[in-house]
Amino acid sequence: MSPTIGENHETAHRAPRTRAAPTEKHGAAAAAPLRPPSADWTIDQGWAGYGAEHHALWRTLFERQCRLLPGRACDAFIDGMARLPIGAEQIPDFRRLSEVMMRATGWQVVAVPGLVPDEVFFEHLANRRFPAGNFIRRADQLDYIEEPDVFHDIFGHVPMLMHPPIADYLQAYGLGGLRAQSLGVLPHLARVYWYTVEFGLVQQRDGLRIYGAGIASSYTETLFCLDDPSPNHVAFDLERVMRTDYRIDDFQETYFVLDRFEDLLALERTDFGPLYARIRNRSSLQPGGVRAKDRILQRGTGAYHRSGRNCAG
Ligand SMILES: [Fe+2]
Repeated sequence: MSPTIGENHETAHRAPRTRAAPTEKHGAAAAAPLRPPSADWTIDQGWAGYGAEHHALWRTLFERQCRLLPGRACDAFIDGMARLPIGAEQIPDFRRLSEVMMRATGWQVVAVPGLVPDEVFFEHLANRRFPAGNFIRRADQLDYIEEPDVFHDIFGHVPMLMHPPIADYLQAYGLGGLRAQSLGVLPHLARVYWYTVEFGLVQQRDGLRIYGAGIASSYTETLFCLDDPSPNHVAFDLERVMRTDYRIDDFQETYFVLDRFEDLLALERTDFGPLYARIRNRSSLQPGGVRAKDRILQRGTGAYHRSGRNCAG
């Protein structure tokens, strides 16, 4: 299952099922910090503090995803990864990443100690800064971790930030998040992030591909979302997504599919005020349900979730 994210709210993108956050510099989870380390919650990555065991863990995660993703991840992801100083040998240095990203799309990566408040997260995105956890999961958490670590945040998210439509979309999402928060409709917008940035699929000429970070950084969900007959694949529709609940601690029951990344940029031009007003009083849609008016690309069997299994064990 995907690492990370969840609904602490607040929103979907940062928080997992608990509010635990790492306090040891590069490892194990413990209690969340009581006070922000700085006004914008950023810290030094502390790259020199990583030990051989942390780099070895990165290598394990990196190599197995790189074996899996060709032919499954979209071209933009593969291309972004190739242009970045990200390799198997060591956990990337955020400053070196930021130099390359800045030249390509004007984005940079900033280190944070774990979860950050929503308004801080949105403020960073609105200013083209991606907050990334500086810690790495433990060896017994290869397939499941409750909050975003450096592997999820860097391997999963950063390659797509090299792609201009996604770079622009994520900044627009940050601005939209600040507005949604003031309107009290953040849960609706959070679903858009969840089903695009974290768990999005895109239709390429040569087939269905992954672009969501929650999938791309997860060995098991990479296989599940494309190769398993259980989940639905439904064409992306903004209002539909905003009404759809999602799975926080297991594989998704439905993945939404873009025809092209540029479709996300339409969100920048959408007047969310009337949209929020329209859906505010409508019921939420179940994660595994499909409707007659959905454009269904794969009608899932639902067998996995019916079985009662759970990817988090
Ligand atoms: Fe994420």
